[in-house]
Amino acid sequence: MRLLIAGFFMLVTCSLFAQTGNPYSYEIKKRTVVTKGAVVSAHPLASGAGVAILQKGGNAFDAAIATQLALAVVYPGAGNIGGGGFMVAHLSTGRNIALDFREKAPGAATRDMYLDANGNARTDLSQNGHLASGIPGTIAGIFSELKYARLPISTLIQPAIDLAGKGFAITEAEARSLNASQNAFKKYNTVTPVFVKEGGWRAGDTLVQKDLARTLQLIRDKGAAGFYEGETARLILEEMQRGRGIITAADLSGYQAKEREATVFPYKKYNIVTMPLPSSGGVILQQMMKMVEGQPLRSYGFLSVQAVHLMTEVERLAYADRAKYLGDRDYYSVPVDTLTSESYIRQRIALIQPDKAGTSKDIQAGVLSPASEETTHLNVYDREGNAVSITTTLNGGYGCKVVVAGAGFLLNNEMDDFSIKPGVPNMYGAVGAEANAIAPGKRMLSSMTPTLVLDKGKVFIITGTPGGTTITTSVFQTLIDMLEFNMTPEDAVNKPKFHHQWLPDEIFVEAGFPIEIREALQKMGYRITQRGGIGRTEVIKVSGGKIEAVGDGRGDDSVEGY
Ligand code: DON
Repeated sequence: MRLLIAGFFMLVTCSLFAQTGNPYSYEIKKRTVVTKGAVVSAHPLASGAGVAILQKGGNAFDAAIATQLALAVVYPGAGNIGGGGFMVAHLSTGRNIALDFREKAPGAATRDMYLDANGNARTDLSQNGHLASGIPGTIAGIFSELKYARLPISTLIQPAIDLAGKGFAITEAEARSLNASQNAFKKYNTVTPVFVKEGGWRAGDTLVQKDLARTLQLIRDKGAAGFYEGETARLILEEMQRGRGIITAADLSGYQAKEREATVFPYKKYNIVTMPLPSSGGVILQQMMKMVEGQPLRSYGFLSVQAVHLMTEVERLAYADRAKYLGDRDYYSVPVDTLTSESYIRQRIALIQPDKAGTSKDIQAGVLSPASEETTHLNVYDREGNAVSITTTLNGGYGCKVVVAGAGFLLNNEMDDFSIKPGVPNMYGAVGAEANAIAPGKRMLSSMTPTLVLDKGKVFIITGTPGGTTITTSVFQTLIDMLEFNMTPEDAVNKPKFHHQWLPDEIFVEAGFPIEIREALQKMGYRITQRGGIGRTEVIKVSGGKIEAVGDGRGDDSVEGY
C-alpha cells in the first residue's frame, strides 16, 4: 500500500525522511531478507526509524528505543508512553536480559476498588476512564534500555518528536480504528484530544500531535524526570483531579523499571528465553512447550486433528494454573519451580484423554505440594548479534481513552489485568484469584511474552505479539510451527491460529481454520467459535548469515532492514 499525499508536505525537511522514510508516502513491507540488521514492528514509519538508527551506528537497543518511541506517535492505540511493557534481549556476549516496565497499582488502590456497594464488579471502571490507569512504566523502561544503547536519547527520540510535531499520514486501518473510538474519546476526556475529528478520519489524513511533541522534548531534555516529575507530572495530576483518578505525585516519582532474571528453558536442542512474572507468559509458555516436547507433534502435522487436540488440552491445563497461581511475585508467593517441574508437567499431561475433548470443569489448576486485546510488539536484530524483543501496551485499544490534556498522550487501562473480583473475567475473559488481586504498588499479571530462541547459544528466532490472553498461545504456536512443522516464518505468522484459555471452555479459531478439522474436533466434544484475528505476530529468523524479518499480515505491521 502506498499513501500519496500532495501539497504542503514538501515543507517538511528531508532530514525527517532520512530518519523514518517519508511520513506522508510510505509502503508496508511484509518480508525482507537482509544481512546486517532488521526491525519489524506494527508500523512502517516506526520500523524505518529503527533501521535508520542501526545505519547510523546504533545497536539493537538504540533501534528498539527509536522504534518504541516512534510507535507511541504513529500507532497511538497501543504504542505508548502512558503504558508499560516488557523487554527480553540477548547480548552478543551471551547475556540474557529481562526488563519489566509493567504498570503498577497506585498507592491509593485497594483490593475492592472496582466493586460496588453490593459487591458487584464494575468492569466499566477498571476498563475506561481515569481510575483504570496504572502508573505508567514505559519511559522508565526506555531509560533502563538506554544503559545497553550507544547513542544519546536526543538522537533516538528525535524521529518521534518530528513525527508528532510535523505529523504523518495515517493508514486506512488507523483511520478505521480512530473512527471506532470517537465516542469513547469524547466520553472519557475532560479536554477534547487531537484524536477527535468531526466528520471522521480518512486514510492519508495528517495526524499532528503538538502536545505529545512537547512532552517528548521534555523527556529528551530532562530524561525520565521529564515524564515522572515537573510539567508532565503536573499535567497528569491535574488530569487525575479532573477525572477523579488516584495517581499521585509520589506514585509517579516512585516508579521504577526492574531488571529480572530472564526465564530460560531448553526445548530439544534449543534454549528458549522469555519473560518471567509479572508476565504469565514465561511460566505458561514453558509449561506448554514442555508438555508437548515428548509428543509426536511433527508426525501429527500442522492443524491436524491430533495436533490441535493436543495443543488445545495443553493450553487448557496451563491457563487453569494461570488463573489460580500467577500474579506479581513481589507481592504473592508463586510456586514457579513446582509449576514448571518435570514431575508436575508429567502429572498434568497424563490428564489429557486421547480422542476426547477435555472439559474445564474437570480440569482445575494442579494441586501443588506446599513449599515447593491493544498491545504491540517489535523485534530488532543488529549486525553484532544482539537481539531485542519488546511487547508494550496500553491494554485495550487507546487504553482508558483518556489523553492527559496538555501532554498529549493516552493513559493505559491496565488495572483491568488484575483480578478485580475472584472469578470475574477481565476484558480478555481471563479469570484470576488471590495471586492477582489488587494491592498498592503491585504489578498486574500480564500475558505479554517477548521471546527468543537460541540455537547453540546464538539467536535463531525473535518473536512476540499483542492479543491479550491469546499472546502466549500465539507465541507457543509460532514456535511449534517453526520448530516442529518446519514452517517458514511467513507461514508461521500468517496461517490460522487457535486459542483455548481454560475458561471459557471453547476453542477460538480464526477464519481460514479448516472446516473438516473443525468438524472432526466438534465430534470429539469441542465447542468451537470463530473470532477475529488472533495476534499480530512479528518474527525475525537468523540463519546461515541471513536475517529474515516478517511482519504479520493481520495489520499495518512492516519490516525494514539493510
Ligand atoms: O498485559 C497483558 O496481557 C494485556 N494488557 C495485553 C493486551 C493486549 O495484548 C491487547 N492487544 N490486542
